[in-house]
Amino acid sequence: MEVTKSMPVFENTLAFAQNADKEDTLKTYREKFFFPQHNGQDVVYFTGNSLGLQPKTTLSYLQQELSDWAKFGVEGHFLAKNPWLSYHELLTDKMAKLVGALPKETVMMNQLTVNLHLLMVSFYRPTKTRFKILCEAKAFPSDQYALQSQLKFHGYNVEDALIEIEPREGEYHIRHEDIYEAIEKNKDSLALIMIGGVNYFSGQVFDMKAITEAGHKAGAVVGFDLAHAAGNLKLELHNWGVDFAAWCSYKYLNSGPGAVAGAFVHEKHLKNTDLPQFAGWWGHEKETRFLMDKKFVPMQTAERWQMSNAPVLSMAACRASLDIFDELGMDKLIEKSKKLTAYLEFVVEEINKKKNNCLQIITPKESRGCQISIVANGYGKNLYNNLIENGVIPDWREPNVIRCAPVPLYNSFQDVYRFGSILTNLLK
Ligand SMILES: Cc1ncc(COP(=O)(O)O)c(C=O)c1O
Repeated sequence: MEVTKSMPVFENTLAFAQNADKEDTLKTYREKFFFPQHNGQDVVYFTGNSLGLQPKTTLSYLQQELSDWAKFGVEGHFLAKNPWLSYHELLTDKMAKLVGALPKETVMMNQLTVNLHLLMVSFYRPTKTRFKILCEAKAFPSDQYALQSQLKFHGYNVEDALIEIEPREGEYHIRHEDIYEAIEKNKDSLALIMIGGVNYFSGQVFDMKAITEAGHKAGAVVGFDLAHAAGNLKLELHNWGVDFAAWCSYKYLNSGPGAVAGAFVHEKHLKNTDLPQFAGWWGHEKETRFLMDKKFVPMQTAERWQMSNAPVLSMAACRASLDIFDELGMDKLIEKSKKLTAYLEFVVEEINKKKNNCLQIITPKESRGCQISIVANGYGKNLYNNLIENGVIPDWREPNVIRCAPVPLYNSFQDVYRFGSILTNLLK
């Protein structure tokens, strides 16, 4: 395989995949993860966009905190090797680097939907004339519920105040020009744009920089749900001027089921005391937090939005994963991601030629991360079930999509080749 910036000439053969793996400079990272087994072999795990695999180091990070808890009890807040009082700070720099933020703009806390709500409390501030929210149609249901309930909370009808940008008739992904047109059309009434950085269903990546610019030009606040973007794309939240963002850490960030989530608030908002917020003691200025005073004095970092003390065990798992990302860096990961995803696309298209074009890739080639969403015309969910039975784990999203995410951190070119062989057999 070529090691130039251009895409290699692919072949759907075992020899090609083996050689590509041999030349993969990230190949040793696969060994750092546990793979579920099927008939004594690693499964083809293509669902790191839903729940990332467990790093082999996670246990030792957790054990450290468990043994300090056993040893010190409550005193672990001060005496633990990594004192729990400030434990969340151990994640900040690495997470900030990963999403292109300043450390003070990033905090790990709560869960994704909770963070979106807490951030909207501050950043969705409707007025009589400016009250609408713009989002992508078919956003992840939790986001839809969050947006709808925010609107209702402020006394608006969802039908009047929510602008959902849909793909055009017969298309699967949204045209950016339609987003910009809607922003322009609603420029006097738009309060907030809240879009997924990557749409969970189609795998489409949105141009976060351009959407932020267009939103700001219209006078709106711009926030992103980065569930499918963090650890998958190169993000530059600070430079793009994004107002706020939130993401989970259990997908590409491999921090375990229901793990602690991330939040970003741009520097420009951190000291704005006019911003309303829901407050809790962990958002209070840390030097005086334990004076237990009645008056809330907000921190001047994104930690200001923290409410509760940190979930240390969840954060320990997150640290294990962040250390791997930090050692590697997003640039190398993305270089491999592009090749691996292009190889999956190639293999699917090769199979398609022989199978009456029954497979339709709906993820736009020019704006995607590592996920490819496939509609298997005439096969549907049975094909997904058969893949599972044969040792492939993709995932299924209603009504008709099989999502496959070859994750560059631990998936291989041979995984893609095996996926292709199994798929070919199942389509017979
Ligand atoms: C795009 C997106 N937003 C929100 C959520 C909800 O996440 P949580 O349950 O962590 O709040 C998910 C979960 O998969 C998601 O994919």
